[in-house]
Amino acid sequence: MPRSVLDYNIAASADDKGGVGLKTAIVTGGAGFIGSHLVDRLVQQELHVVVLDNLATGSWDNLSQHGPDAVTRIQADVSEPWPQEALPSSADLVFHLASPASPVHYRRLAVETLMVNSMGTKRALDAALSYGARFILASTSEAYGDPAVSPQPETYWGNVNPVGPRSCYDESKRFGEALTMEYVRKHQLDARILRFFNCYGPRMQSEDGRVVPNFVRQALSGDPLTIYGSGEQTRSFCYVSDEVDGIWRAAITDGLAGEIINIGNPEERTILNFAEVVADVAGISLHVEPRPLPPDDPTNRCPDISKARALLGWEPRVPLKDGLEATFRYFRTANHR
Ligand SMILES: NC(=O)c1ccc[n+]([C@@H]2O[C@H](COP(=O)([O-])OP(=O)(O)OC[C@H]3O[C@@H](n4cnc5c(N)ncnc54)[C@H](O)[C@@H]3O)[C@@H](O)[C@H]2O)c1
Repeated sequence: MPRSVLDYNIAASADDKGGVGLKTAIVTGGAGFIGSHLVDRLVQQELHVVVLDNLATGSWDNLSQHGPDAVTRIQADVSEPWPQEALPSSADLVFHLASPASPVHYRRLAVETLMVNSMGTKRALDAALSYGARFILASTSEAYGDPAVSPQPETYWGNVNPVGPRSCYDESKRFGEALTMEYVRKHQLDARILRFFNCYGPRMQSEDGRVVPNFVRQALSGDPLTIYGSGEQTRSFCYVSDEVDGIWRAAITDGLAGEIINIGNPEERTILNFAEVVADVAGISLHVEPRPLPPDDPTNRCPDISKARALLGWEPRVPLKDGLEATFRYFRTANHR
């Protein structure tokens, strides 16, 4: 059963030299999918990590590879006042990742999602300010809504339904971005905003409704792959170790206060084509089951990563098939959630 820190890290770490002198990082949402891989990377970079998580969609199991000397676990809702007595006396980096991220979870936790991306972001910003720490906001490609331009550059303002079923997520992330920018302008906080596009890999939850776990679970159980709408809508998939490498580089690069950077894989493909690749990796023939398209589902998703390339020297390196094989290995193990 692969549980160790690097078992899934199929992209060799690209920049282990940066971050010298950094001692402590706070990661909200560190018990979740991306957050736990980020914690792995921070520990690998020899930082002590303090995780605040209310376990709404995450699990301490994702951090079971780390002892208390490496990772401090604080179970707390970051939308509420933070438990001062449990916090470290100093911190160099504050990463704010806490938020339900899949439509299944953010519909179920709609008000909580609005709160964690508004009040939770404010509390994380205030913490960074009081520590004199650098702040890294996990935003999303959903800030672009159903985009009218493709690929999406950071300068695109988006096409978002402000009151639809996705708005609890999309609009609260946009609010979090606006708030972060005011802390940069008003308090000169050294904050940067990262817009993550679809990320996948081990530790995704099998039932969270996102396309990668859906397809992998269905392929493993011999069920048809469910395709919403025509399947002609596009997505782009970034393997989690590439994603974390982008986050790490954004955290250790100086001079990025107020910058907004897309982190995602620019290899755009239709959902139908993605289903074909999943079937190929699983070694099965493709059978699909059509379903109605949910409201406000974006027709296309593809990051313009020119800025990440220029500012961070970053681009994804893990081929889709390799990332999917690692994801299948994880989902085949008995006790994933
Ligand atoms: N996975 C993706 O493809 C993707 C894409 C775009 C943006 N993002 C963003 O990245 C971040 C991490 O996403 P993920 O896929 O790892 O999701 P996840 O659900 O696996 O992780 C989110 C974590 O936040 C915690 N959390 C939620 N509300 C909280 C609260 N009020 N207080 C404390 N902890 C709370 C959850 O328990 C969980 O551990 C999120 O902010 C998400 O919006 C993810």
